[in-house]
Amino acid sequence: MTGELRRIDMTVNGRARAIDVLPHHTLLEVLRDDLGLTGTKECCLVGECGACTVLVDDVSVDSCLMLGVEADGASITTVEGLAFGERLHPLQQAFLDTGAAQCGFCIPGQLVSAAALLAETPHPTRAEIEEGLAGNLCRCGGYEQIIEAVAAAAAAGDHPGRAASTGHAGVPAVGDRASTPDAELAPQ
Ligand code: FES
Ligand code: FES
Repeated sequence: MTGELRRIDMTVNGRARAIDVLPHHTLLEVLRDDLGLTGTKECCLVGECGACTVLVDDVSVDSCLMLGVEADGASITTVEGLAFGERLHPLQQAFLDTGAAQCGFCIPGQLVSAAALLAETPHPTRAEIEEGLAGNLCRCGGYEQIIEAVAAAAAAGDHPGRAASTGHAGVPAVGDRASTPDAELAPQ
């Protein structure tokens, strides 16, 4: 029994999207399967690994634990929405610079959680970084480099504030990206 399709309206990475979704499908399924935004990763599906982290109205959420229909009317930011074209988000650049990405599977979730952390706490202590990323597991064990990357991005002071609504330094606000296909924003 799958139920009837339900129309939901979301803003995803600055683009208004009207999508017909199955009522039992998670936000993760909607993003990956209906919108093709596969940067958000599917892993444990029970809220333990953080690979599926996205921002819902600027709050980090495990998208595997939220139904798509619950996101009706919300503004969603996925990892594809962090960069603008080939211009990386400062956190993405810091992750590259510190070698934080090993297999890379956890990195989209780590980046989104880190973006949420820096939006709330622009200059976090190490303990605050650890707490902010506590919900994101890295099977490669690259925690030191990930923490180093977040600290470096914070120290550079070039982080976005509210990524979903304001854009970040030198990068147009998300609203300016509304006509840009997601695939052109930051292919993952
Ligand atoms: S896939 Fe959602 S928390 Fe692991
Ligand atoms: S880089 Fe491989 S799981 Fe984190």
